[in-house]
Amino acid sequence: MAQRVLLIVSGGIAAYKALELVRLLRGRDIAVRAVMTEAAGQFVTPLSLGVLTEDHVYGALFDLKDEREIGHIQLSRDADLIVVAPASADILAKMAAGIADDLATTLLLATDKPVLAVPAMNVRMWHHKATQRNLAQLREDGIHVMEPAVGAMACNEWGKGRLPEPVGILAEIERLLAEGPGAAEPHPLLTDTTRTINAPDLSEHNLFGRHVLVTAGPTHEPIDPVRYIANRSSGRQGFAIAAAAARVGARVTLVAGPVTLPTPPGVTRVDVETAREMAAAVEQALPADVAIMVAAVADWRATDEAAQKLKKDGSGKPAPLALTENPDILATLGQHPQRPTLLIGFAAETETIIDHAQAKRARKGADWIVANDVSGNVMGGDSNAIHLVTADGTETWPDMPKTAVAMRLIERIADALAGR
Ligand SMILES: Cc1cc2nc3c(=O)[nH]c(=O)nc-3n(C[C@H](O)[C@H](O)[C@H](O)COP(=O)(O)O)c2cc1C
Repeated sequence: MAQRVLLIVSGGIAAYKALELVRLLRGRDIAVRAVMTEAAGQFVTPLSLGVLTEDHVYGALFDLKDEREIGHIQLSRDADLIVVAPASADILAKMAAGIADDLATTLLLATDKPVLAVPAMNVRMWHHKATQRNLAQLREDGIHVMEPAVGAMACNEWGKGRLPEPVGILAEIERLLAEGPGAAEPHPLLTDTTRTINAPDLSEHNLFGRHVLVTAGPTHEPIDPVRYIANRSSGRQGFAIAAAAARVGARVTLVAGPVTLPTPPGVTRVDVETAREMAAAVEQALPADVAIMVAAVADWRATDEAAQKLKKDGSGKPAPLALTENPDILATLGQHPQRPTLLIGFAAETETIIDHAQAKRARKGADWIVANDVSGNVMGGDSNAIHLVTADGTETWPDMPKTAVAMRLIERIADALAGR
C-alpha cells in the first residue's frame, strides 16, 4: 500500500513551496492529505493544495461535516508520517507548549505517529531565544526538526531561516518513511541534506522549468540466458548529476542501466538493461532541454542471443561469439529533429584523452564532451578528474568527489542555458 503523509501547512511566506513538495511526493507514489492553518490560507489556497493532493483539504477544527466523515483523531492515525512544512515560529511554539487551539495543533497533540517539522521564518525569529528554546523542547520530545537553509530572505535580510528546497524535504521524508535499520541513514547522494541541497545559489544557477535527460550505468548485452557482456560502470556519476539537476529545480528523467543505486529524490527513473532499450527510453523521453549521456553503453552486442545456455562441446574450441554494433545514442541525438538545446556526452578513455574527446565532440555532433581517464579505478570509485571539452576549448578540473563534479557541471549547464 502507498505510504501516506499528512502535510500541515502553516502561515509563512514559504507556504507556496508546499505545493511543489506535494507534487514531488505524489511523483514518488506517496499519498498526501493536507491540513492548512487559518494563516496558511493567506498564502496559498485550499484549491491549489486540493488539486495537487486530489483530496479534500482540511482546515477548521469545528467543521462538522469533516468531523462526521473523518474525525480529527482519525486524520492523524491514517498517516505514516506527519510533516509540518513550512512550520511557522508560531506553530512550533504551540507544539512545544502542547497548545491545541485549531485543527493542525490538535492533530499534532493527538498523534502517535512520527512528526517532521520543517521551520521557515525570518532570521531574527529563528535566532530568538524563544524559538530556540521551543526547538530544543521539540527535539527532546522526539520531533524531527530539519535545519533551515541560509540565504536571502523575502524580507530583504540574509541569514538562516529559509525553507530547505522541496527535494531536500522529500529526501528527509523518504528517509523517515523508510523502514528497517537503514532508516537512520540519509540518502547517500545527500549526506548533509540541508547544506548540500542549498549549496548552489538557486537564484543564479537554477534549472526551473527545464527538462534534463541523463543516462547512467552500464548496459548488459545478453549472450545466452545466463551470460552477458558488461563493463565496470557503477552509475554513480550519472546518478549524482541527475540528483544535482533535480536539486536546482529541473524535471529530471534518468535512464539507468542495471545498477543497484537508490533513485535520487525528485528524479523520474526508467530502468533498462540493453543499449537498444536505453536508446528507445532516451527517444521516448524527448523533448529535453539538456541531455547528459553519462552511461557506458556497450559498443557491441552478441549478434544472436542463444535461447539456451551455451555448452562446452568437448572439442576444446570455445563457442563462436559474433558481435554487432549497438546504436550510438549520443550520435543519434546529435542528428535528431528534437535535438536537445545542450547535448553533452561522456568519454571514458585510457589514452590520449583530450584528443579523443575533441574528435568525439565533432563526430557525434555534441556540444560538450566530459572526458575522463578510466585507466585507474574511476569506474566504481568516489572521485573523478575530468576535462570539459567545448567549442571554446578544454578545461581541466581537479580530482574531486563525483557529487562535486555533478554540482559544478550542473552550474555550468544552468549558466549556458540562461536566457536561451
Ligand atoms: C507577509 C507575512 C509573512 C510571514 N511569514 C512568516 C514566516 O515565514 N514564518 C513565520 O514563522 N511566520 C511568518 N509570518 C507570521 C505568521 O503568519 C503568524 O505568526 C501566524 O499567526 C502563523 O499562524 P499559524 O502558525 O497558525 O499558521 C508572516 C506573516 C506575514 C504577514
